[in-house]
Amino acid sequence: MGTRPKILAFAGSLRENSYTKRVVQIALRGAENAGADVTFIDLRDFPMPLYDADDEEKTGLPENALRFQELLARHDGFLIGSPEYNGSISGALKNAIDWASRSGGPFKRSDIFTGKFAAIMTASPGSFGGVRALSHLRGVLMSVGVNVLSTECAVSFAGSKFDGDSEALTDETMKASLEKLGASLAEMLQKMRCKPESRLGTSN
Ligand code: FNR
Repeated sequence: MGTRPKILAFAGSLRENSYTKRVVQIALRGAENAGADVTFIDLRDFPMPLYDADDEEKTGLPENALRFQELLARHDGFLIGSPEYNGSISGALKNAIDWASRSGGPFKRSDIFTGKFAAIMTASPGSFGGVRALSHLRGVLMSVGVNVLSTECAVSFAGSKFDGDSEALTDETMKASLEKLGASLAEMLQKMRCKPESRLGTSN
């Protein structure tokens, strides 16, 4: 259906059994159930060099940055998870966003980020659940023009809340919150589509 909002979902952790990737997977099911088409990508499949303005001047954007930009441009909204590393977001996620924010590829900033919506989440084995990373992630996304939903999710004690290495979260309340977060993003995007002046109304 052409009217279903398209959401890109990804996490700032590269490791295979990442808690953050797993919480994003839970939220994305909530978004799908609320009527969105969701594409999940693993940033491990998009390795990018550390941003260096001299390299950019010499060789332009790396191929994986262009692939990532294209995916961002082809979606209306984002479900983004980040682990908390020393009180902030992961370097991998910041680096990917920094590359994606650069011009030089076929897409403009307005195609990639501006005016889009995101829902953010994190997970940590610690008692604060990575909540400090969320305020940083919110700031980074807002600075590239993305509207971040006020609701967010931080899963504390993540090490004991999953059934082994699976995506099954044993904390039913948190599972419901994550699904609701995904659904809220889908509903927000649907609402934006209904507005005649909305950029979403012309995206497909
Ligand atoms: C961490 N971790 C961590 N946890 C936390 O709650 N607050 C923090 O500031 C940090 N800092 C930190 C720094 C670095 C360099 C590492 C590697 C780890 C622990 C972190 O939450 C844990 O490794 C998570 O499992 C990472 O998320 P993923 O990979 O499971 O998604």
